[in-house]
Amino acid sequence: MRTYLVTGGAGFIGSNYIHYMFRKYGGSIRIINVDALTYAGNLENLKDVEKQDNYTFIRADIRDREAIEQIFADNDIDRVVHFAAESHVDRSIRNPEIFVETNVLGTLVMLNAAKKAWELPDGTYKEDKRFLYVSTDEVYGSLEEGDTYFYETTPFAPHSPYSASKASGDMLTKAYWDTYRFPINITSCSNNYGPYQFPEKLIPLIINNALQGKKLPVYGDGKNVRDWLYVDDHAKAIDMVQEKGRLGERYNIGGHNEKQNIEIINIILETLQEMLSEDDPRKALVSKELITYVEDRKGHDRRYAIAPDKIKEEIGWYPETMFKEGIRLTIQWFFEHEDWMKNVTSGGYQKYYEEMYQTK
Ligand code: NAD
Ligand code: DAU
Repeated sequence: MRTYLVTGGAGFIGSNYIHYMFRKYGGSIRIINVDALTYAGNLENLKDVEKQDNYTFIRADIRDREAIEQIFADNDIDRVVHFAAESHVDRSIRNPEIFVETNVLGTLVMLNAAKKAWELPDGTYKEDKRFLYVSTDEVYGSLEEGDTYFYETTPFAPHSPYSASKASGDMLTKAYWDTYRFPINITSCSNNYGPYQFPEKLIPLIINNALQGKKLPVYGDGKNVRDWLYVDDHAKAIDMVQEKGRLGERYNIGGHNEKQNIEIINIILETLQEMLSEDDPRKALVSKELITYVEDRKGHDRRYAIAPDKIKEEIGWYPETMFKEGIRLTIQWFFEHEDWMKNVTSGGYQKYYEEMYQTK
């Protein structure tokens, strides 16, 4: 039975990936989820798999070399899927240190522990082992007027502390292939949305605020463009890259779904209006009047857009969920998980939200 070590599996994409993998492979794989449970990690996301014999949760910090080496010593790991990271750009602008510690040094710990466990005396590696670093399109910087897309060959030009730290982890991973022929892949994905996304990020924040009649904060002129992908399509791509990708290669993941932030907000408001029944008291709260332009994000990247040609041509991946359907699935999920939202928006998140948005 193949064993996967998933870091950051209690976060948004990690938990969706674990669900995807169990839906696809059932009892024929084993998953070990290693997560420090920061503010973004939530075991509620995995309630429905926690009792499975082929699922194990280990609370550990990827910066803790001894703990990570012990996990590799205790388990014959075949695949590493490394999601764990500090993931929010705004938080990185306010507190960059933890981003370097987790996203750079934590990644180095993961690479070294896997290398130590998999390396044979002759410098080659045990058969069929793979390490995948989950990178981001933000490493490529920002597209400006006249630019086309981010390709795998686009030079790195990160702007925020978050994207600089992700680019460092990304380059370290590539260096382990170039230097040691350590079996890696890197995937650079565009903006994800879907169930379990923490409401500090645009789409769940707008859904949550709109349903409570709270202001909808739009940074700058609202015309920054992101390329949105439903999270299950990202999970599918990661799995396909680990199955079919050429070792040492980077694959871009994106679905050509570019939208301005203000368009996204309008689509969410319209979809909420369509989906809420006439007798639902929240229907009267959802309104375009809530849209509030606030101070821009510092160093705000203008446009991201992925060219996914390589992953389509080499591996046969394509996105299955169009935005219209994906946003309805996401809203429906939030309707059905009000308690999840209440739990994650109490306490620490409330304090972050007040501090973050009163300064804008
Ligand atoms: P998230 O913030 O929802 O989850 C991150 C997870 O990592 C949490 O469960 C957290 O507890 C865990 N974690 C953080 N620091 C840790 C540490 N030191 N040790 C162990 N666990 C730790 O993030 P996400 O949005 O699910 O993103 C997952 C990965 O995908 C990240 O690497 C991110 O850079 C990348 N990515 C995200 C997107 C997106 O749109 N969200 C797009 C492309 C790439
Ligand atoms: O592109 C991939 C990246 O997407 C990932 O690597 C990051 O982990 C992920 O957080 C995401 O980064 P963004 O900064 O693009 O996502 P966010 O949801 O924070 O913001 C999306 C856009 O919406 C961005 O242009 C900023 C804007 N925004 C965001 C918030 C939270 C607003 O206008 N208002 C807001 O309140």
